Amino acid sequence: MAVMTTEKRAVSAPAKAGSEPAGRVRAELRDLQISFRLPDMSTLDVISGISMTVSEGEFVAVVGPSGSGKSTILRALCGLLKPSGGHVAVDGVPVSSPPPGVGFMFQKDALLPWRTVAGNIRVGAELGGMPAEEHEERIGRLVKLLRLDGFENAWPNQLSGGMRQRVSLGRLLAYQPSLMLMDEPFGALDYQTKIAMGKELLSVWEAERRAIIFVTHDIEEAVALADRVVVFSARPARIVADYKVDLPRPRHMRAMRSDPAFTMLTEAIWADLALPS
Ligand SMILES: Nc1ncnc2c1ncn2[C@@H]1O[C@H](COP(=O)(O)OP(=O)(O)OP(=O)(O)O)[C@@H](O)[C@H]1O
Ligand SMILES: [Mg+2]
Repeated sequence: MAVMTTEKRAVSAPAKAGSEPAGRVRAELRDLQISFRLPDMSTLDVISGISMTVSEGEFVAVVGPSGSGKSTILRALCGLLKPSGGHVAVDGVPVSSPPPGVGFMFQKDALLPWRTVAGNIRVGAELGGMPAEEHEERIGRLVKLLRLDGFENAWPNQLSGGMRQRVSLGRLLAYQPSLMLMDEPFGALDYQTKIAMGKELLSVWEAERRAIIFVTHDIEEAVALADRVVVFSARPARIVADYKVDLPRPRHMRAMRSDPAFTMLTEAIWADLALPS
């Protein structure tokens, strides 16, 4: 049976010294506040004092109610949105424009229809500034890893939804980001494909160990994939729990789901979100 810590850590307070895993801090939010001015000139408080860090090689999942501000946090981290207060930094540098080395993957794939599978993955390599002579090797490796062999020259409209998401993931990985921001990347996929994509992502992550912030509605997906699961409250969002997931890696998607420790943690998160289980 897997061993799991369902320990709750520093909640809605700045991370305490010594509570972070070893490794360089890649992303830091400190006392983040985000409010929007609405057309009627009223103010919508979306984020209310969130502090968290994500270290090198760490896989952090964020779950929370719809509209709680999960996407907003990712937008602040990649410089698309200016916070109303607090501090956002990537690799120790305050974020004011899209930081180098940060890659983003959305819920819906945004493949270029006029580029083939290999061509779309190449976009990542080009944007990431990889030397041209290294492109072929990197693309070839990603195509294999993501089980797209034989489809290198296919066009996006010739692919299934799951394949398109695999190409999107390939493009993100070709960019070689040091920090990957993923906003419900598998949310639109059917259950089976979603599990398969999770496996794919983990095999890549276990090989390359990039820092990941992975937003999802799916509590089981969060626990199955991540080292930590951060739970947001309803808007204005604060952190209600931060769980360490000590399930051994590599993880076995099906076997893990019947593990009592896995169930215990998912139940605890359901309760945090005050959702009927
Ligand atoms: N540019 C904006 N102007 C005004 N309000 C905004 C803006 N962007 C987001 N919001 C509001 O902020 C809140 C949080 O939005 P956000 O997209 O971050 O939620 P979310 O947690 O990602 O939700 P979901 O799980 O449904 O994707 C919502 O109420 C949304 O209406
Ligand atoms: Mg969202």
